[in-house]
Amino acid sequence: MSDTNRPDLDRSSGPGLAASPREQVAVVTGGASGMGLSICESFAAHGYRTAILDIDGPAAQEAAEKLRAGGAAVLARAVDVADREAVFEAMGQVRAEFGPVDILVTSAGMVGFAPFTEISPEQWHRIIEVNLTGTFHCAQAVIPDMVAAGWGRIVTISSSSAQRGSPGMVHYTAAKGAVVAMTKGLAREYASCGITVNTIPPSGIDTPMSRNSQAAGNLPDNATMAKAIPVGHLGAGEDIAAACLFLCSEQAGYITGQVLGVNGGSVI
Ligand SMILES: NC(=O)c1ccc[n+]([C@@H]2O[C@H](COP(=O)([O-])OP(=O)(O)OC[C@H]3O[C@@H](n4cnc5c(N)ncnc54)[C@H](O)[C@@H]3O)[C@@H](O)[C@H]2O)c1
Repeated sequence: MSDTNRPDLDRSSGPGLAASPREQVAVVTGGASGMGLSICESFAAHGYRTAILDIDGPAAQEAAEKLRAGGAAVLARAVDVADREAVFEAMGQVRAEFGPVDILVTSAGMVGFAPFTEISPEQWHRIIEVNLTGTFHCAQAVIPDMVAAGWGRIVTISSSSAQRGSPGMVHYTAAKGAVVAMTKGLAREYASCGITVNTIPPSGIDTPMSRNSQAAGNLPDNATMAKAIPVGHLGAGEDIAAACLFLCSEQAGYITGQVLGVNGGSVI
């Protein structure tokens, strides 16, 4: 999904950050597609043991196999992040295979489009369940590992919708806004435990989610979207992965509770 005119996206030698100091264990939800997949590729390339948790089991397995073929330690589990029991079970399996979880990135998410008065309670609940409550379940399942280690990194993937509002997707906007607030609350609660918690609210990233939204007529095409983005083009999963790798590094230890927009200047 990368923009082919982006020489800056050649990350074959990594974005300059050191490899994982002790083959840390990173869990990425929604890691089978889009920016979650880019994040997994980046972690794997930097020596992290990476666990892909995704509702799309076959896609997660396929991604894991490709990364293992390149020599990385990667496992995949089919999990609906809204299913608390399944989340805790999957984290238990990660722990059993790789050890305690050092890093959590919550990229699993679903989008929804409907005029506000037509959002059904079922649509409202599902969007909140996946985007917000799923983040809650995942964070609760791994924070004890991080507290015990005295070190941890959590990056939530929110949305620029939470920063500037998005018409026709108030349920999504509400869920992502709550993810930003939850990130700040967690950051304060766990700052003294060596755990940092930050959020990346993306905007205009070329992924299967945005392509599907375009195909359904809910988003303009890439050329039209690019005109509204100050840098003049869409972003790629690798742009999010680079920011994420930094936020999860040792070097980012003094950064917590922050909202790091990766959006081509769309929100400043
Ligand atoms: N693409 C953008 O421009 C953009 C903008 C703002 C926010 N986001 C957010 O970024 C995150 C990643 O989106 P993307 O664009 O890479 O989309 P994507 O559809 O390519 O990837 C999302 C992944 O999440 C998985 N997933 C969905 N529901 C799940 C569930 N209940 N349990 C576990 N996994 C589930 C999907 O199977 C998929 O693999 C999402 O949270 C999305 O809301 C994306």
